[in-house]
Amino acid sequence: MARTRLGVLASGRGSNLQALIDSSREGSMDADVVVVISDVETAQALVRARKAGIEARFVGPGPKRAHLSEEAESAIIDLLDESKVDLVCLAGFMRILSPRLVRHFRWRLINIHPSLLPAFPGLRVQRKALEYGVKFSGCTVHFVDEGVDTGPIVIQAAVPVLEGDTEEKLVQRILKEEHRIYAEAVQLFGEGRLTIEGRVVRVLPERSGDAGSDEHRS
Ligand code: GAR
Repeated sequence: MARTRLGVLASGRGSNLQALIDSSREGSMDADVVVVISDVETAQALVRARKAGIEARFVGPGPKRAHLSEEAESAIIDLLDESKVDLVCLAGFMRILSPRLVRHFRWRLINIHPSLLPAFPGLRVQRKALEYGVKFSGCTVHFVDEGVDTGPIVIQAAVPVLEGDTEEKLVQRILKEEHRIYAEAVQLFGEGRLTIEGRVVRVLPERSGDAGSDEHRS
């Protein structure tokens, strides 16, 4: 079975990137991170990639606050295509992608988000969950569509919100689950076991000898 080639987009700390690199190297995920791209020149994610011997590229995002410039998006698409990635993983990438980029990688683009979507889309969502008073929060891996945090859900993991939790404690509890389910989602994708019906992702059962199909239907 061919290993899945991953392109990772990250803006910051890069702990999810690190979890993907570690899962790949430990053999629990049949995928390799082949390129890491950041919109932040000093991102720790780029440092982690270089340390692991993975191509690490900074692409200047342009003047807009939340979006990338057209030039930046073109450069990112070119880098990912040149690296022949099968799947693009957003791992703490803090820019909203244009419909053009989303369509280019249709159903080959996934994101990890630190809440149980559709609750708490957007930013600083662990703090919002605490302030709202929810008793459970968690994380979501979803395919990226043209909306913000709206795409079909692949896997979710729930964690309890505990008495006396601070934002940082909840961040860390959720992060631990993020690292687990992101690699799991990549593995399911690589095994060709994810099918999308409307906005529902179905996970096909494991079939011996049939793993590794690269068919991803919509
Ligand atoms: C993670 O918690 C990820 O879910 C979140 O940013 C953090 C990045 O951490 N992403 C979003 O909020 C996207 N809307 P990391 O850089 O250590 O992986």
